[in-house]
Amino acid sequence: MYLYILGRERDLCLAELESKDKNVELITEQIAVSKKLFDINNLGGTIKVGEIIANNVSSVNELQKEIINHCKAIKLETKFNYGISYYGNSKINFNQIGIKLKKELKSTGLKPRFVMPSDGAILNAASIKHNKIFPDGREFIVVQSKDKMLLAIGLSFQDIDMYSKRDYEKPCRDRKVGMLPPKLSQIMINLANPDDNTVICDPFCGSGGLLMEASLMGYDSIGSDLSDDMTICAKKNIEWFLDNFNAKGKVEILKSNDATKLKYPKERYSVVTEGFLGINFLSKPTKQLIDEQISNLKKIYVEFFKNLLLQERLPDVVCICVPFWRVNEQTIRLNLIDEIANLGYTIVEFKSARQSTLNYYRENQFTGRQIVVFKPNKEN
Ligand SMILES: C[S@@+](CC[C@H](N)C(=O)[O-])C[C@H]1O[C@@H](n2cnc3c(N)ncnc32)[C@H](O)[C@@H]1O
Repeated sequence: MYLYILGRERDLCLAELESKDKNVELITEQIAVSKKLFDINNLGGTIKVGEIIANNVSSVNELQKEIINHCKAIKLETKFNYGISYYGNSKINFNQIGIKLKKELKSTGLKPRFVMPSDGAILNAASIKHNKIFPDGREFIVVQSKDKMLLAIGLSFQDIDMYSKRDYEKPCRDRKVGMLPPKLSQIMINLANPDDNTVICDPFCGSGGLLMEASLMGYDSIGSDLSDDMTICAKKNIEWFLDNFNAKGKVEILKSNDATKLKYPKERYSVVTEGFLGINFLSKPTKQLIDEQISNLKKIYVEFFKNLLLQERLPDVVCICVPFWRVNEQTIRLNLIDEIANLGYTIVEFKSARQSTLNYYRENQFTGRQIVVFKPNKEN
């Protein structure tokens, strides 16, 4: 069994895992377990992955024994670094346990070095990397689940530096249009759950971030945008991406196109896209401004979904994020989902999250993103 420590937007992160394994189960507020092991580099919503080596640990003594047995059983280098990350709210002092373990491990002929978390009870990715706990040493992950503890060893963790590089170092960034964070692009591609030979289409591609993620995950992709400036920007970014990363899928940027009239490919494809979010409000918008946005955007989205149904080949899936607004602690939505469904689509439900909870929102921003997955009703 593997455990997945989920990111900030818990429901979204859990739905991403659910799209890969229907039997994924939540064992604490922020941790899920699955029998399947997935590559963390392709999971935008998981922070850490561990392999469970002991379930139902009922005491600290038992926990220590499990750790020592594990260290004896595997072929660790004599000298190794280890640390403990504790996910729970008991008052147990895991730093003391770690220090005590060091003595016991030494007596078995090993030369361990204990690394304490720099802040709180959890080793962060930077500390794990810096202290070479991974891959040569061991991170022991202890999870409090009801009255038992569960022990796992850390297998992989999110490579924050690579996400930052893709997000912030691309040559063309236009903050005015709002760029989709790479992690959210990955989550959306996973929610669409495309087969290997599916082409990913992003008809509102902006600066092309989602296309890069699709390519890294092994999919060919096609992007287009209404604005000439944005297609030029996306082309620049893709050139940079191809020079700097190990692209696995081909990326094609079409000349500027209106997504409400676009012609889609004849081969199998899914649409994964961050739709137009309207004005990027930097100060609190009035109700009237938001109403204007809603009325403009609804027209674009309805036409966009209608156009998809006119295609010779229908998409397998459409995973889209649309805006909502947070003003004076109130959420104002486009209320578009039922209208789209009535055009001839079925909403893909996730047992771990109701559609309305698949949100991506940063505190102190006025615009959030709601992610919805649709399937056209007609068969191809
Ligand atoms: C929120 S941005 C997408 C940003 C993109 N995901 C990224 O990371 O850069 C929405 C994009 O939709 C484009 N757009 C607006 N109306 C459109 C339409 N009718 N057809 C195609 N693109 C449109 C805008 O030019 C903008 O680049």
